[in-house]
Amino acid sequence: MNIKSKPSDSYVFPRTKKKIRNRSVLAAMTNKQSHRDGTLSDEEINWLTRRAKDGFGIITTAATHVSKNGQGWEGEFGVYEDSFINRLKVLTDSIHEQDSLVFAQLFHGGMRAPEKLTGNIPISASKIPCKESSTGSTKAANQKDIEGIIFDFKSAATRCVEAGFDGIELHGAHGYLISQFLGKKTNHRKDIWGGDIHNRSKFLIKIINEIKKSVPESFIVGVRISPEINDMGIFLDDSLELAKILTKIGIDFIHLSCWDCFKISEEYSKDKKTITEWFTHTIPNLPTIISTGGIWSSKDATDVMMQGADLIGVGRVAIPYPDWSLNLKDDNYNPPRMPFTSTQLTKAGLSDVFIAYMRNWKGFVEDEK
Ligand SMILES: Cc1cc2nc3c(=O)[nH]c(=O)nc-3n(C[C@H](O)[C@H](O)[C@H](O)COP(=O)(O)O)c2cc1C
Repeated sequence: MNIKSKPSDSYVFPRTKKKIRNRSVLAAMTNKQSHRDGTLSDEEINWLTRRAKDGFGIITTAATHVSKNGQGWEGEFGVYEDSFINRLKVLTDSIHEQDSLVFAQLFHGGMRAPEKLTGNIPISASKIPCKESSTGSTKAANQKDIEGIIFDFKSAATRCVEAGFDGIELHGAHGYLISQFLGKKTNHRKDIWGGDIHNRSKFLIKIINEIKKSVPESFIVGVRISPEINDMGIFLDDSLELAKILTKIGIDFIHLSCWDCFKISEEYSKDKKTITEWFTHTIPNLPTIISTGGIWSSKDATDVMMQGADLIGVGRVAIPYPDWSLNLKDDNYNPPRMPFTSTQLTKAGLSDVFIAYMRNWKGFVEDEK
């Protein structure tokens, strides 16, 4: 094996010197378990604490909305008001007792924040067709809206500091508001917030800069991106340029949401590089790189580190196997794959609401025989 470190080794974030006991990251997973008023539920705290107790180095919360009208789903906890801080503190204390770091994933749904949930026409970078809007399209954000949302991200981050989080992950992936600004097909603006990738990333960069001015030095600030969403006009060449911009402004980590870490990008197939390798092999001095998507066995984790990732993110495998990361010491660890019964998932600390939600993920839950 030609890598300096293994998935079970500890890691120190270079700038903040915060240490984690192994390279595993529980990726953000929305689960609809929280309360209608946006407060964190015990079920949400329990599910995350169990993964900390069972060994994950970093626990990332589900996406949490920074503005009231940025909510994406029912049962999503919010971080848009000071009144949420007390419950968030219960979560961070509970995770820290287990010796993991905890990040909040901050987001705004933009065109994916349904009007039926928020009561407002969804807002986006431009006026574009939108199924979640009663008018059939989004409202293009004006300058005041943009400044307001940047303020909301900053305020949410300072609440996270107060609540005891070790850092935040800005959700710039999967088509939510930040990626709607990044995408060529969703951002048609002619002002400073639109144009080439330097302009389309200004919304994200301004959010980061405002946050960095307001949080302590020790607080970790990272971004999750989807390197390719062709339908939205997010292409790999722009994403590589974005990573260079993020590197230059001193982001602490870039989390690559690959969905399949082993796939060779179709558009660039002649170069035979995976998405992660495009970043790690072509950009010097990158910050910490987390890669997520399709990792199941300890060999998968090692292979993704061989691609150059510093940390390994997992979603689905952590649902039935809370102790997944403890097994990384075993080179042959490859736990059984889906489907899982609700009894198995209950044992793994999922509430009935979360199990019902997982039924939407094709083939994940099977009925008891
Ligand atoms: C139930 C579920 C909810 C998810 N919610 C989020 C989310 O809130 N934010 C996010 O960035 N990704 C979310 N994802 C994507 C995961 O973080 C991860 O990138 C994806 O599942 C691929 O990794 P995996 O193959 O290890 O599952 C979700 C995935 C699942 C299965």
